[in-house]
Amino acid sequence: MSWDRQITIKTPQELEIMRAAGRINAEALAAAKSAAHVGATTADVNAAAEEVLARHGVVSPFKNYPGPYPYPASTCVSINEELVHGIPGKRKLRDGDIVTVDCGNVYQGWVADSAITFGVGSISEEASKLLEATEKSLQAGIEKMVAGNRIGDVSAAIQACAEGYGFQVVREYTGHGVGRMMHEGPQLPNYGVPGRGMLLRAGMTIALEPMLLVGTYRTRIMPDQWTVCSLDGSLTAHFEHTVAVTENGPVILTLP
Ligand code: MF3
Ligand code: CO
Repeated sequence: MSWDRQITIKTPQELEIMRAAGRINAEALAAAKSAAHVGATTADVNAAAEEVLARHGVVSPFKNYPGPYPYPASTCVSINEELVHGIPGKRKLRDGDIVTVDCGNVYQGWVADSAITFGVGSISEEASKLLEATEKSLQAGIEKMVAGNRIGDVSAAIQACAEGYGFQVVREYTGHGVGRMMHEGPQLPNYGVPGRGMLLRAGMTIALEPMLLVGTYRTRIMPDQWTVCSLDGSLTAHFEHTVAVTENGPVILTLP
């Protein structure tokens, strides 16, 4: 996915609204996770998130997002080898699966974007290590979201953490600026070199989204033209937060 959009600086008041959007997103993800029992379908998981968005009177920017054809749902639900952009449908969750739910919403004109991966029933040791590595990689990136640092500092921290666990980071998909649009500049790769890339400034808001793979980092797109899978069929995971750079350090906007 690629786009060429402006970088926008948000005021503290605008960050407050994005924080409110982020809270709604966290609630939707929690509801999706609660609905993710063995035997539930990915459509059921999506419906649980949608119910929360509807209750708050917000819609998802994923719905009808331009692509090979307009994205048909409010969330992405991706299982095991499905890395991102899984379209909710009839696939049933099984014991031992790991499930990624990625959700967005637009509140008073401002977007929140976040994702979690979690296990269903009892998962393998490798799967739980992958979840830990992906969440820690996100945390490592967030810690570098400091004014005066550069994009490469954030990217390199994500990559170092992921590879330290022995996993790979995706190359074809990146994090991104977020604001009135879901995808703004700058792009934030999950790999990079410290000290390189654009300078971070207070008021920037970026969705950091480490996507990790157990095997090769290569991916392929399924015949539905959206779902992105690991090329080798190995397990994958994805965590995402919308994060602001502020005078007082990083602020995660998509916490409960
Ligand atoms: N969090 C994803 C992203 O930032 C979700 C977009 S799915 C789409 O790209 F369908 F809306 F494209
Ligand atoms: Co995103």
